[in-house]
Amino acid sequence: MAFPARRMRRLRGSDALRRLVADTAITTDDLVAPLFVREGIDEPAPVASLPGVVQHTVDSLVAEAKHLASLHIPALILFGVPAHKDAAGSGASDPDGIVQVALRELRSAVGDDIALMADLCLDEYTDHGHCGLLRQDGSVDNDSTLERYAEAAVAQADAGAAVVAPSGMMDGQVAAIRAALDGAGHGETAILAYSAKYASALYGPFRDAADVRISGGGDRKSYQQDWRRSAAEAVTEARLDVAEGADMVMVKPAVTYLDVLAAVREEVGVPVAAYHVSGEYSMVQAAAERGWIDADAVMFEQLTAIKRAGASFVLTYFSARVAELLGA
Ligand code: PBG
Repeated sequence: MAFPARRMRRLRGSDALRRLVADTAITTDDLVAPLFVREGIDEPAPVASLPGVVQHTVDSLVAEAKHLASLHIPALILFGVPAHKDAAGSGASDPDGIVQVALRELRSAVGDDIALMADLCLDEYTDHGHCGLLRQDGSVDNDSTLERYAEAAVAQADAGAAVVAPSGMMDGQVAAIRAALDGAGHGETAILAYSAKYASALYGPFRDAADVRISGGGDRKSYQQDWRRSAAEAVTEARLDVAEGADMVMVKPAVTYLDVLAAVREEVGVPVAAYHVSGEYSMVQAAAERGWIDADAVMFEQLTAIKRAGASFVLTYFSARVAELLGA
């Protein structure tokens, strides 16, 4: 009988050995918690398609931020849900807009205990639901949108954001935002660029949470990336953003794009974030609710895989759960 030439199982025989030879781990320090704050509500509002996630009031947001900081989670990223939307997405840059109000409250409540990131886009604030301003013919106008992003960046930095995170996929957005921040005396405010962001069907639950509907049943395919392209396109996007001044870049979604993540990690020298998006989270939760999978086990498997592919840190709706299970 032929003897196995190489025994791979020797190092799998005990938990101690498996822990010893493990190469990758997700830790609390790798987590960024996405949070939603909604204008004009008195109680936190659950989001049906994102089990366990709520639209916060400013008060409940502050309480949650304190909780996350006590769990030693290093960052949160804030999304605003305004009471009123308009064509220009005015709420994105209004000093009294919901995100700016919330950032000021967070800043005074938690200071630098948890890094405050602000998603920077227009889609939560526009009545048409697109990430940019529209021309007469309904197409998204890149360059006039950059002016709005610049205004929003300054408003967010004025309100206390440590990091602004442009997610609209307009060309030149990082350069426009960097120039505006520097011009307004916010040279210390960092930019986390959503550099490789795909026109994914996995954002559905997020759009419920952020109350975003794209008018006329439209989509974002004219600005977000086509997932049939190779990872080389994402590398180009990330390199451009770094050249424009991005301090960190992001790949989004995560699990379906691990090849992209690995390629970007290989090619740029800045921290690379991955966004485990709403649909990725909700698929795990939904299957677990049916008893078909173990949510915690799948959560750790997916987040560890994202780290293994090269992520420096992960934006995930599982952040608090992970930190609780790992212990502070
Ligand atoms: C745009 C934005 C989106 C997400 C983050 N920023 C939605 C979109 O591009 O349509 C999705 C995040 C998620 O699905 O969890 N402001």
